[in-house]
Amino acid sequence: MKITIVGTGYVGLVTGACFSEVGHQVLCVDKDERKVNMLRANKMPIYEPGLDEVVARNVAAGRLRFSTSLAEGTEYAEVIFIAVGTPPGVEGQADLSYVEQVVREVAEHMSSYRLLVEKSTVPVNTAEQIKRTVLRYSRKDVAFDVASNPEFLREGTAIEDALQPDRVVVGVESERASQLLRAIYEPIIARGGGVFVEMGIASAELTKHASNSFLAMKISYINAVSRICELAGADVEQVANGMGLDRRIGRQFLKAGVGYGGSCFPKDVDAFVHLADQLGYDFDLLKNVRQINEAQRDHVMQKIRHELWVIQDKTVAILGLAFKPCTDDVREAASLYFVPRLREAGAMLRLWDPVATDNFKALYPDLAYFTDIEACVRDADLVLILTEWSQIADFGLERLRSLMKCPVVVDGRNMFDPKEMRAKGFAYHCVGRP
Ligand code: UGA
Repeated sequence: MKITIVGTGYVGLVTGACFSEVGHQVLCVDKDERKVNMLRANKMPIYEPGLDEVVARNVAAGRLRFSTSLAEGTEYAEVIFIAVGTPPGVEGQADLSYVEQVVREVAEHMSSYRLLVEKSTVPVNTAEQIKRTVLRYSRKDVAFDVASNPEFLREGTAIEDALQPDRVVVGVESERASQLLRAIYEPIIARGGGVFVEMGIASAELTKHASNSFLAMKISYINAVSRICELAGADVEQVANGMGLDRRIGRQFLKAGVGYGGSCFPKDVDAFVHLADQLGYDFDLLKNVRQINEAQRDHVMQKIRHELWVIQDKTVAILGLAFKPCTDDVREAASLYFVPRLREAGAMLRLWDPVATDNFKALYPDLAYFTDIEACVRDADLVLILTEWSQIADFGLERLRSLMKCPVVVDGRNMFDPKEMRAKGFAYHCVGRP
């Protein structure tokens, strides 16, 4: 089938690449000419393991193309996925101006039936606004449908998530839209890619909010439990294992640490609180989820203060700048909390990350960046772990201790065994473990 995807960010590019991988003909449209030129030259604008290969393979096979023209995109396919950004607005609500712009332009150009599919994370009832906008800007005799198809892929494992999803959620209100989306997802479902779930549009829109906020809640829950573990002398990893073996709970997203970051959870929790408020419901539970997440970072900062006493002139090596491993994304990353605070307190910072340093450098150009852990931790008074990169686990504890001025490790990701760390001579502070 022919498909147009508008927006070549994480969601748009991965979705487009994966649709072409299962045999569809895909045109990805982005108004950013620089990005489109990069993609045409097979350079990825984002770091995502495996994405470059999928893109290269499908471009070579003639199934995947890139364009800056939305007129061309509208003409090209009956189904148009809208995957442009919905950044946070001033009060936490999603800013839908990019979505509106795309809808208006598609409406102006369409000359026969089109199905507009919301792929970006949008507030419930956005489909109604899209319909009104199409009716206002299109020729009145052109039929169309709007559908919602929220995306659940994670950065770092995006290809796998897109090709083997647990479920494909689709919100439709016409048989024609349902048939088109079933045909698009048929090859993915046929490969063993989960369940195709059809529902009303508002329900599909809400499923995305409810899922992301639930996962954020799980993380804040275990982080709150980790605080109680510290007070009670219990081990949060053991508690999480004990809980997670109950299939109703599950072990995933029960990893205590410095809290969640990234471009999704912080923004989506805020947007859901705001949306609920507008609809007349005070979502106190989610406000607490947010507070616990912030408090977790403050708590780890306290551990650093406690250990260093005076931060001024201490050398602190930070391992991990990305908001999680296997991505170069630093949006809402824990590093963005710790770096300014430690710098303000007078610490001499040395920063390491295998892929995210360029993105971090764009925000803090004048700090000391290292490409290998060995150089980064040399003569450090304290090592702070913020992202659980495997390179840190593989580095070797003896080697780490021999390089540091003082063997002090504050581990925001619970990567090491506290007993082993103590036995190897480290002062080791982690989260929720004795
Ligand atoms: C998240 C969701 O997991 C995806 O399903 C969703 O499609 C995506 O948002 C989105 O809305 O686009 P992502 O932000 O890429 O995906 O990353 P996650 O793996 O969910 O991790 C988010 C944050 O939570 C990271 O900072 C991670 O370190 C933290 N986390 C995760 C924990 O602190 N503990 C855990 O147990 C799990």
